[in-house]
Amino acid sequence: MRLLFILNEAAPLYKLGGLGDVGSGLSQALLAAGVDIRLCLPYHPQIKVSDRHLVATGEAIFAAEPLTYQVYLTYLPGSAVPIYLIAEARYLAVTSDALDKDVAKAAVFCLCLADFLSRFSAWKPQLLHLHDWHTALLPLLLKHRYDLNLPSLLTIHNHRYFGQAPLSLLHDLNLNPDLCQVLTWDGQDQTLNLLLEGVIHADAVTTVSPTYRQELLQEPGVLFDALRTKVGRFYAVLNGLDYHTWDPQTDPHIDRRYTTATAPVAKSANKQALCRRLGLAVISSTPLIVFIGRLDPQQKGLSLLLQGFQTNRFPPPKAQFILLGTGDPQLERALHQAADRLPTVHLATRYDEALAHQLYAAADIIIIPSSYEPCGLIQLIAQRYGTLPVAHAVGGLIDTIKPPTTGFLYTPNTLDQLLSALDQALSYLHSPSETQFYTALMSLELSWKAATPIYIDLYTATISGDMKG
Ligand code: GLC
Repeated sequence: MRLLFILNEAAPLYKLGGLGDVGSGLSQALLAAGVDIRLCLPYHPQIKVSDRHLVATGEAIFAAEPLTYQVYLTYLPGSAVPIYLIAEARYLAVTSDALDKDVAKAAVFCLCLADFLSRFSAWKPQLLHLHDWHTALLPLLLKHRYDLNLPSLLTIHNHRYFGQAPLSLLHDLNLNPDLCQVLTWDGQDQTLNLLLEGVIHADAVTTVSPTYRQELLQEPGVLFDALRTKVGRFYAVLNGLDYHTWDPQTDPHIDRRYTTATAPVAKSANKQALCRRLGLAVISSTPLIVFIGRLDPQQKGLSLLLQGFQTNRFPPPKAQFILLGTGDPQLERALHQAADRLPTVHLATRYDEALAHQLYAAADIIIIPSSYEPCGLIQLIAQRYGTLPVAHAVGGLIDTIKPPTTGFLYTPNTLDQLLSALDQALSYLHSPSETQFYTALMSLELSWKAATPIYIDLYTATISGDMKG
């Protein structure tokens, strides 16, 4: 099966969040399962590859102007997965952020790729697997501008980022509005929702956990109406973890590597080394609580932490807390203002992959107060590293945490509830034997092994037009 896997990021080439991990982890698992897979990304200016070759140069018209694009072929570093990088000097060479503002860049990426697929590609994919709003214009473009009938499956990783574009984008893309269904459904507010275009025009849609799928089907709004109409072609496949990147037995970033048996001693040594490096008091019996993630005020529930710092209720007495993450500058400032004075808190407001590994390997508890969470990868990484998640009971967090042995869940998402779940988790740390505690977490099967055959079945059904309706 020839599969083109199209997305905006893939670690380690370019990563903004969980999507980047899925890009590399799932594509490698599919390759290992025998799928003839190739990735495709915009050639973002941050991407550095030395070994690449030019496979095509083409031209596509955008906003009535010809744009020249180049397609390079290389490999995802550290893997045998071939990857196309689409370069274009005006739109694709700009740095974009993790949010959904840069709609012209996404549109030009889809346009150049559609043009490449229709004219040059010697390797002809049988299916496109699209991820998130950046890629969601492809089915519409292929059908209506290029007259190319290529089956497509779209995965929604985060519905809150959907790419809102002015209706004039249709003209810029040379799409006749009368030909597409877009306007009747989507154009009523005089804007286009790019993710919705993908949902309407893709042959099948998936998302990244069963509970999140249910949540989406219950939301009011046009995007969700569109999902409800294709409920038989809308599936959930729970994300997995890339076991090569996330393995406490081989992790090159951590001080002491460990197995389930050696976890108690090694994690405590890792905690001491980390606290020393970050200037926190070194007391091995003090539990270490961490937060790791994008500082996204909409999703990640950081207002609870702010409130906790400001009222001196968080971190709980006799616990230390380290936050790692970057994102909204205003939120970063507010967190520093509220917590820099607290002796048991360290805020690392930056992107630091090595520190993330060290935190998983040192922490006792990770908190995940997300207001919504499509799947969440950090609870999976935490479990594999023997760190107990305490999370808001929502989306994929519900599907991956079974209290008390593999974490704690709380609802509603208030500081009181978070603190009370943390209390329970802190007492639980000392209740089962160390062997029971670490075995329950670290022996979970969290790799891409479960998801891979499900995706392959969905690909097969999409290619053969066998979707239910
Ligand atoms: C997004 C979601 C996260 C999910 C990830 C990968 O980052 O917010 O919940 O795990 O995508 O699917």
